[in-house]
Parts: sequence; C-alpha cells; structure tokens
Amino acid sequence: MKVLVFAGSTRLASFNRKLAREVAAMARAGGAEVTHLELGDYDIPMYNADLEARGTPPDVMKLKQLFYEHPAWLICTPEYNASYPALLKNTLDWLSSPVKGDAVWNDDFRFSRGKVVGVLSASPGALGGLRSQSHLVPLLLNLHCWVAPQTYALGRAGSAFDADGHLVDEAAKTRAQSVVQQVLWAAGRLQQA
Ligand code: FNR
Repeated sequence: MKVLVFAGSTRLASFNRKLAREVAAMARAGGAEVTHLELGDYDIPMYNADLEARGTPPDVMKLKQLFYEHPAWLICTPEYNASYPALLKNTLDWLSSPVKGDAVWNDDFRFSRGKVVGVLSASPGALGGLRSQSHLVPLLLNLHCWVAPQTYALGRAGSAFDADGHLVDEAAKTRAQSVVQQVLWAAGRLQQA
C-alpha cells in the first residue's frame, strides 16, 4: 500500500511535520510504502485562473501525479484561526482544477477520487487544532475522498515530542496509530473492491 504523508506547514520546527514523521513510521511498521512529502519543496503560486490559463505550473503537475499514485494519504494540519492553513487550501485548489487541454488530467477530481485519507492535527493549544479538521474534512469529501472516521488532534504539542521528535505519551501514540490503522485497512479494502 502506497501512503503519502505530509504536513500543512513549512515551518522548520513544525509540530505537524513531527507528527507526520511519527505516523509515517507507524504506516511503515504496518507494511506500507511511505512517501513523506514536503509541500515547501514545490513551487506553488497562489491560485489564479489567469495564470492557470497560460498552463498548469510544472510543480502542480508533479504534485497531481504524486497524489494520484498514492491510494492513501495522511495529512497533519495546523490550525490557523480555527481553520486549516492557506498552504493546504491553495495546494488542494490547484490540484483539483482540471488541466486545460490535457486528455489525462481533464477529470476534475481524478487525483483524489477514491483516496482514503487520515486527518490529524497538532497545536500548542489544548484542542490540538481540532477545529481545523472540521473544515478540512468537508473539503476532502468534496474531492471524493474517503475520510477515516476517527481523526486525531494532538494538543499541547510544545511538550508532546522528545528531543528526537518522537511522541512521548503512550496514549497519543495509540490514538495516532489507530488513525493509521484505519487508513491502511480501508485503503486495502477499497483496492480489493
Ligand atoms: C495560529 N495558531 C493557532 N492555534 C490553534 O490551536 N488555533 C488557532 O486558531 C490558531 N490560529 C493561528 C493563526 C495563525 C495566523 C497562526 C500563525 C497560528 C497557532 C498554531 O497552532 C501554531 O503556530 C502551530 O505551531 C502551527 O503548526 P506547526 O507549524 O507547528 O505545524
């Protein structure tokens, strides 16, 4: 099972990247072939239909292909102002837009249709970015993804990781692990269907 794991943050010391690395390791331990994506490695301008009319940016095409190749995604999102960051929205907006004049990528939701997605969040606050999830999940459903019903919000993220970036709390590990397990299970079932 190929799983794409990424954080909705490009911050150097991002808690969500740390969480993404932890769930990536859990998915690998569960037998998945994991790709850790860094959104900051891709040159994605702010979405603009005029810009797009001149051609889909090359890095958007690369990301479309990457997302398409992975039947399962694990997303660790920060919470900004009770929602998810513009980085994620802009990336998903670009990816969901059809590629003008391209026979392969003309189906709007081709890159996302039928993907199984696990949603996690991390925040220094007590709620762990839970409110970001209530916006991100409907977006993913709109893209025809299957979102795992159990999500995880890691609160007090400032003290949740040790110096090596590992989760210190056993209960946190178990909760994150159960999101990973659901995604691997559901993606496996969907692939057999
Ligand atoms: C935040 N942060 C934040 N946290 C939260 O729990 N609820 C919120 O509504 C917000 N709002 C918010 C808005 C803006 C503009 C910023 C920059 C930050 C704090 C945020 O959770 C914190 O910066 C995290 O550390 C961001 O995630 P990464 O970069 O550590 O993964």
